[in-house]
Amino acid sequence: MEKIEIAILGLGNVGQGVVKILQENTEKWRNKCGANIIIKKVLVRDPAKKRDVSLPPDVVTGRWQEIISDPEIKIIVEVMGGIEPARTYVMEALAKGKNVVTANKDLLAEHGRELFEKSQAAGCDLYFEASVAGGIPIINPLKQSLIANNIEQVMGIVNGTTNYILTRMTQEGMGFADALKRAQELGYAEADPTADVEGYDAARKIAILASLAFHTRVTFQDVYVEGITKIRPKDLSYARELGYTVKLLGIAREESGQVEARVHPALIPSSHPLANVYDSFNAVFVRGDAVGETMFFGRGAGQMPTGSAVVGDIIEVVKNIEKGSTGRLSCTCYEHKAFKPMGEIMTK
Ligand code: NAP
Ligand code: HSE
Repeated sequence: MEKIEIAILGLGNVGQGVVKILQENTEKWRNKCGANIIIKKVLVRDPAKKRDVSLPPDVVTGRWQEIISDPEIKIIVEVMGGIEPARTYVMEALAKGKNVVTANKDLLAEHGRELFEKSQAAGCDLYFEASVAGGIPIINPLKQSLIANNIEQVMGIVNGTTNYILTRMTQEGMGFADALKRAQELGYAEADPTADVEGYDAARKIAILASLAFHTRVTFQDVYVEGITKIRPKDLSYARELGYTVKLLGIAREESGQVEARVHPALIPSSHPLANVYDSFNAVFVRGDAVGETMFFGRGAGQMPTGSAVVGDIIEVVKNIEKGSTGRLSCTCYEHKAFKPMGEIMTK
């Protein structure tokens, strides 16, 4: 049986989840993809830091050169986050013919175009299921299962940290700072949680979903963004008295050839399914002209749910390597579409 060697960039919340899942049952992975998956190297900032997972000492390194110069490493799993050096490493990996799996929405929402062009030119896979809504399969359905549809709208709760904070504030009267601290302890928040609470993380995710749904290029800069930092506990209780729940929503839609993408807090009638999506759970509604309304629901953040999505991508890439079919799934079938100017947000 063939062995496929991989390198993981990052051993934080998500990286450790990936290692735990891969180490848990190597026999299972062999049966699922027909190869032995070997974690050859793991890149971190501080190799001496104590971790929750155990790896041989020569595996954990602070040196990218050890990874990029190793021709046996076929898959780079980027779970370090941020734009640089992640962008440079992913571009170098693709240039060397290595396949990439990433959970990095910042990178995709800002540099998706060059990354997809590079992966296509190199004939390599670039998979990113974990970049939106953690453990929920939403990228693959938009890329494949719903391809028969003209997608009209993608809408939902795509940030676990803010949903957790709003849930704790609404249900227990917990203060914003305490709820955020707890979300950080649970591994939901970004390294800089400003991205969560100001809505930037949700905006990056909605940009990725809109790009896939409407076959156009939507970047972070195209999205209208408002976070949850101005929401006070009394806003939440007034909303409740009136029969509403406050949620941070990401909304993208196409109307008459124009695309609109936005993120902001919204009042949801308490009987609506989205009002009952609590804690770090996410839910995404996709409306297509053939399928009608579909809803994707599950854990949108956290070590193991996100690890699940990353390992799912690794297995797919290994299967593609085994079949000799990497690089065939294109994400670059884009056309130019106009954007709804942000001052003219549709209200329907
Ligand atoms: P994290 O806990 O902050 O971990 C980041 C890891 O990357 C750490 O191990 C860190 O090394 C390493 N790293 C960072 N910069 C580095 C550099 N310049 N060189 C070498 N190593 C570096 O982050 P995370 O929560 O796991 O998130 C990782 C990625 O997954 C991000 O793109 C995030 O947006 C995405 N994501 C996260 C979640 C979630 O629930 N947390 C869900 C979906 C997607 P040290 O440990 O030595 O500092
Ligand atoms: N910080 C992100 C969130 C992680 O809270 O949703 C998952 O992408």
